[in-house]
Amino acid sequence: MNEKNLIVTYSQLVMPQDANVIGTLFGGQMISWMDIAASKAAHRLLKGTVADAAVTRAIDATEFKAPVHVGEWVNFESTFVSLGISSMVILVKAYAEGRHDERRLACISEFTMVAIRRKKDGTYEKVSHGKQIV
Ligand SMILES: CC(C)(COP(=O)(O)OP(=O)(O)OC[C@H]1O[C@@H](n2cnc3c(N)ncnc32)[C@H](O)[C@@H]1OP(=O)(O)O)[C@@H](O)C(=O)NCCC(=O)NCCS
Repeated sequence: MNEKNLIVTYSQLVMPQDANVIGTLFGGQMISWMDIAASKAAHRLLKGTVADAAVTRAIDATEFKAPVHVGEWVNFESTFVSLGISSMVILVKAYAEGRHDERRLACISEFTMVAIRRKKDGTYEKVSHGKQIV
């Protein structure tokens, strides 16, 4: 797999229960969805490795650029910025899709996910994913 050009996609429809007090998408819900989008990218990367999963270690440089409205779709695009030993930095861009437009950049954030492996005692430890951006 060529991680450099890999774009992992994920989508969500904004429902009334996802709205804040002014009727646009609640920021905490957006971050939650972006976390899932980043997790999906990590899941792709970790296939065939010794890791059992990845967890979120840090969320940086988050910017809400445009509001998203109930009834619109949010399309997430995740790309790999860098890969460490156990970590991976994933840039997630959230594009709103309304009835009259297709691609409005609504939010951007950088997630550091860490590959983990389950130990015999049931707890988890970080593990080398052995991947490099080629
Ligand atoms: C993930 C976890 C198992 C890692 O265990 P750890 O032994 O403490 O390891 P560290 O967090 O020090 O470092 C792991 C990696 O993250 C990187 N890292 C640590 N802090 C970071 C930060 N603030 N920003 C970016 N990267 C960071 C380290 O450089 C290291 O990368 P590398 O292995 O590629 O060199 C542990 O920190 C943990 O369980 N955190 C809670 C995770 C969680 O509950 N997330 C929410 C639910 S998904």
